[in-house]
Amino acid sequence: MFFKKKQKALAERKVPTHIAIVMDGNGRWARKRGLPRQAGHKVGAEAFRTIANYAKSIGLKYLTVYAFSTENWKRSEEEVNAIMELLEKYLREAIADMDKNRVKFYFFGDLSRLSPELQEEARIAMERSKQYEGVQVNFCLNYGGRAEVVRAAQRFAQDCLDGKCRPEDLTETHFSELMYSAGVPDPELVIRPGGELRTSNFLLWQSAYAEYYFTDVLWPQFGPKDLEKAIASFNERKRRFGGV
Ligand code: FPP
Repeated sequence: MFFKKKQKALAERKVPTHIAIVMDGNGRWARKRGLPRQAGHKVGAEAFRTIANYAKSIGLKYLTVYAFSTENWKRSEEEVNAIMELLEKYLREAIADMDKNRVKFYFFGDLSRLSPELQEEARIAMERSKQYEGVQVNFCLNYGGRAEVVRAAQRFAQDCLDGKCRPEDLTETHFSELMYSAGVPDPELVIRPGGELRTSNFLLWQSAYAEYYFTDVLWPQFGPKDLEKAIASFNERKRRFGGV
């Protein structure tokens, strides 16, 4: 009986089109277990894999994850290398399994500072997965929300200098098209596990009207059940977009 009720609730809830996640809490997860921070990132990468597959199974169209911020370079070389290696490994495996999984890959951020290998894998993953119809995963790599807005402003200024447009003609829609996320609808739900209550420079422009969901669960332990809790919370909210 309880199970049936739950199934019905799952079938009736609205899955947002685009969910974005700050994958926070890997370091604390590891510390609690007396492990190095890298161990937390490793389990965090597995948590991501599970969530991406689950997202596909419930028909989510876009999943954006904060994998490495412009501020994360301040961490120890050892930790930065460990995260980069995990990303490389993940992308290599994803490219090999691509036809089976049919997940689309996309990247937000300045990839030029990443290793040539990682840049090449990102390029291949993006190019080869273009044709798929499953969930699109946007990896934010060397990404910062403010840096993204500045980059968009620079691109617009350059277009004006080149005589392609005039400052007074700039609209929000046009500005959105200058972001890394051009063509991707804004996230409706932003989830932050790990207990911190901040946005940390994540999708500043795109999340103007997003619903936020915070949980103390640390990212390595975040699973489909937690994602469903966030979606249930989203379903209970009344979105007014500034109206009444
Ligand atoms: C934040 O937790 C997490 C990161 C800065 C890195 C996230 C990277 C991964 C989950 C691995 C990437 C791989 C794939 C395949 C997506 P934190 O280290 O700030 O945790 P803390 O707040 O507990 O210290």
